[in-house]
Amino acid sequence: HRKYRPFTPIARPQRRWPDKVIERAPNWCAVDLRDGNQALVKPMTVAQKTRLFLLLVKVGFKEIEVGFPAASQPDFDFVRKLIEEDLVPEDVTIQVLTQAREELIARTYEALKGARRAVVHVYNSTSRVQREKVFRMDVAGIREIAVNGARSVARHAAQAPETEWIFQYSPESFTGTELEVAAEVVNAVIDVWQPHKGQPVIINLPATVEVSTPNVYADMVEWMNDNLHHREHIQISLHTHNDRGCGVAAAELGVMAGADRVEGTLMGNGERTGNMDIVTMAMNLYSQGVDPMLDFSNIREIAETVESVTEISTHPRHPYAGELVFTAFSGSHQDAIRKCLSTYQEGDVWEIAYLPIDPRDLGRRYEEVVRINSQSGKGGVLHVLERDFGITLPRWLQIEFSRVVQEQAEEQEGEVNGEQIHALFNKHYLAT
Ligand code: KIV
Ligand code: ZN
Repeated sequence: HRKYRPFTPIARPQRRWPDKVIERAPNWCAVDLRDGNQALVKPMTVAQKTRLFLLLVKVGFKEIEVGFPAASQPDFDFVRKLIEEDLVPEDVTIQVLTQAREELIARTYEALKGARRAVVHVYNSTSRVQREKVFRMDVAGIREIAVNGARSVARHAAQAPETEWIFQYSPESFTGTELEVAAEVVNAVIDVWQPHKGQPVIINLPATVEVSTPNVYADMVEWMNDNLHHREHIQISLHTHNDRGCGVAAAELGVMAGADRVEGTLMGNGERTGNMDIVTMAMNLYSQGVDPMLDFSNIREIAETVESVTEISTHPRHPYAGELVFTAFSGSHQDAIRKCLSTYQEGDVWEIAYLPIDPRDLGRRYEEVVRINSQSGKGGVLHVLERDFGITLPRWLQIEFSRVVQEQAEEQEGEVNGEQIHALFNKHYLAT
């Protein structure tokens, strides 16, 4: 007996994605205001949602899932506010989520009355576990829920032609769904919507729960890519969660496997371990020379706003955004960084040891990079003295003074800041 079972690999001897490199950014959809919000201890107020919405617009998102208006009154009110106060820029499309149930779909369209353009995102669960244990239905029953939902979405849209409608379907719990079943259900939805030129459809493939290594998810995406009806008029969207800690990796491999679009959140807020973190994936692309089409050049402001509305602090080691991610305390790292930076000139290719990306591209400062504690050597101390106080030491003094600083760090069991280093220098060499 085994409590946990190994996941099933996908047999794809001809898989293509391992040879791919991402050469352009996918279309992004921020789901902070829906998936992110639904996972909070204290869901956001309308005012907090508005603040986060305006931040997402400023960062450059063109598609933003703003809520689940049929499920919560604040979400309904927020959608009304966006529309009535005309807060959605011309080039931004709002998206709302609904279950594939007639009364919820009707309420969703009520919330969207008067919208210029909107994505209606309808979903139902398709996994074996959900079919057998939650819904107690066979595949035909699950397919019927999806098809009825798709028909209802199209019918309501036809009654409000003043809005430009885009339809999106998610086979929720896709990662727990047999591929043939997922394709059967998704293709039935596609056949209802009949996508064509000028009227594309979004098919979102959620790793509602991340249950395998990212290569298996990529294989599933590539398999769907090869088996969808009207593929040329479909946008394949990814929606990964982070249960195994690989939400970003799964999205990256999924894009290599043929997806066009990625849903995620800032800093990875979302259900359980979170959604995939768009900051990380976007900056990963940036660091390989691909324009992510999102602006994270003021990461501090972004992190502070997210922290304030979610009441979740950013981990100091969070990729790109954490306080310590560009900091070196170790002497050998400091020395290598100092040497690389001393020859770096604007316009050069970024090749700096231990710094995968220029901190200034995120609005951060070189001052954060070299910090001194008991593990730092003379290189770091020299760097701080030179950088902050314009003091260069003769060779004979370098080792001696770095020992003085090291002793101070050991004594206070922590970091010695620039002011303290300067004071130690004055005390030892100028006061006598
Ligand atoms: O994780 C998920 O499956 C979702 C869907 C509703 C898209 O959030
Ligand atoms: Zn989700």
